[in-house]
Amino acid sequence: MDIIYPGTFDPVTNGHFDIIERSSRLFKKVIVAVAASSGKQPMFSQTERVEMIRESIKPLSGVVVEAFSVLLIDYAKEKGIKNILRSLRVASDFEYELQLALMYRAQDRELETIFLMPNQKYIFLSSSMIREIARLGGDIKAFVPEYVYNEVLKKIGHYRDNVRRDRR
Ligand code: COA
Repeated sequence: MDIIYPGTFDPVTNGHFDIIERSSRLFKKVIVAVAASSGKQPMFSQTERVEMIRESIKPLSGVVVEAFSVLLIDYAKEKGIKNILRSLRVASDFEYELQLALMYRAQDRELETIFLMPNQKYIFLSSSMIREIARLGGDIKAFVPEYVYNEVLKKIGHYRDNVRRDRR
């Protein structure tokens, strides 16, 4: 069975990789699909987000990383895949994920959403928290792979430089 794991991944965290590794043991092919998510105004471009996953991913059979900028149901149709993978960390994820899963189903009744729980050491992780901690000078080393860590620091450097320039 093949599955699509969609997300914004801004940036990808160890929690996302935990889900990717689990899914690679269960499914023949896993497409990690990086959404344009322009509504979220990501810190990293879609190309950068794809690159960070590709650079950090351990060699796992059947896992590929792609970008998409259309409705997820259209992307799934294009790929001929009927399964969507999402992750549930804490009870408060459930409401949003239920809404998303039912919205996918309303648009394509053959589409099934499958949920996996990450290792409990990652349940508090989110990409926005990583961005916030890094922006405020905190240490994110334990939460993201080394490549991502360096990219976030580079980006924050640019961010700080821009803030300094705007203040002048
Ligand atoms: N480890 C770490 N963080 C996790 C996680 C895990 N295992 N599981 C979820 N998260 C976090 C993410 O980091 C993210 O955090 P943030 O909001 O602080 O950035 C949050 O939970 C969920 O975001 P994400 O997984 O990126 O999903 P999303 O809600 O931004 O995106 C899409 C959902 C991309 C799948 C959805 O918007 C979509 O399908 N878009 C395509 C366009 C479309 O079809 N729209 C209509 C949808 S009905």
